[in-house]
Amino acid sequence: MEQTVEDLRNMFNLKGQVAVVTGGAGALGSAMALGMAAYGANVVVTGRTLSTLETTVSELEKLGVESLAVACDTSKKEDVENLVKATMAMFGKIDILVTAAGIAKRFPAEDFPVEDFDQVMDVNVKGTFLCCQAVGRVMKEQGGGKIITVSSVRAFAGHPGGYAAYGTSKGAINALTKQLATEWAKYNINVNSIAPTILWTPLTQPVLEDEKLKQIFLSRIPMGRPAKTDDMVGSTVFLASAASDFITGQILYVDGGCTAG
Ligand SMILES: NC(=O)c1ccc[n+]([C@@H]2O[C@H](COP(=O)([O-])OP(=O)(O)OC[C@H]3O[C@@H](n4cnc5c(N)ncnc54)[C@H](O)[C@@H]3O)[C@@H](O)[C@H]2O)c1
Repeated sequence: MEQTVEDLRNMFNLKGQVAVVTGGAGALGSAMALGMAAYGANVVVTGRTLSTLETTVSELEKLGVESLAVACDTSKKEDVENLVKATMAMFGKIDILVTAAGIAKRFPAEDFPVEDFDQVMDVNVKGTFLCCQAVGRVMKEQGGGKIITVSSVRAFAGHPGGYAAYGTSKGAINALTKQLATEWAKYNINVNSIAPTILWTPLTQPVLEDEKLKQIFLSRIPMGRPAKTDDMVGSTVFLASAASDFITGQILYVDGGCTAG
């Protein structure tokens, strides 16, 4: 063994690390933030409105870590630059970035309004890129870091439920993840993605309310249930920690077997 047993036991430890989580008031973002804080990370959470972040911040503080809320529309370059500035002013470094901000809009492809298509691309693709770019520059300067993008099983397979924009945006996230991983490996920056199957969150409320569509989703999951937010914690801590140091450019499907068959 090259490492001590103590090192091996500590490989998931995030104590003293600084994580930035976009969409930190959201279902996945807050769970991922709290999961990393449970392993010791200080966490900066962002969302478009500061007031929506209050609950996450107080839960983070209960875990005994430092936390900061920054208002940031991730599709706006100036907002993202301000997020990085505010984080650096408080913590002086960024070790981990999780891009959990995202939206979904569903329409039949033949009727998909172009403005809605653009909005999904703006938030899901451009927003993710802007955050990766701004934080990537800091990580390059400081000698490394971990980036976790959030994809979806919709990047892997189509769906009759109107995902022309969302699925396409998540396909782009997979490509971006692999692209950045290959470009930034030399800077010791790991870039991976977590791709969940469906969870019942505000984003998927319309699916939950449509019994037929809901059954289509569940019938595609061999484990027979939707994901839970806590199902994302293990993969987040893994990809944020030293345990995944030699893993980059991977899309980790957290999907109850959905993409297996
Ligand atoms: N819920 C699911 O079934 C599911 C499945 C696979 C992937 N995902 C992905 O997980 C991520 C989080 O989704 P969720 O289910 O937690 O939804 P959510 O609606 O609870 O959270 C999304 C968050 O992103 C924020 N957001 C939206 N636009 C933004 C912008 N321009 N700038 C900053 N923040 C913005 C929202 O305010 C919200 O807090 C998304 O990328 C989504 O595509 C969700």
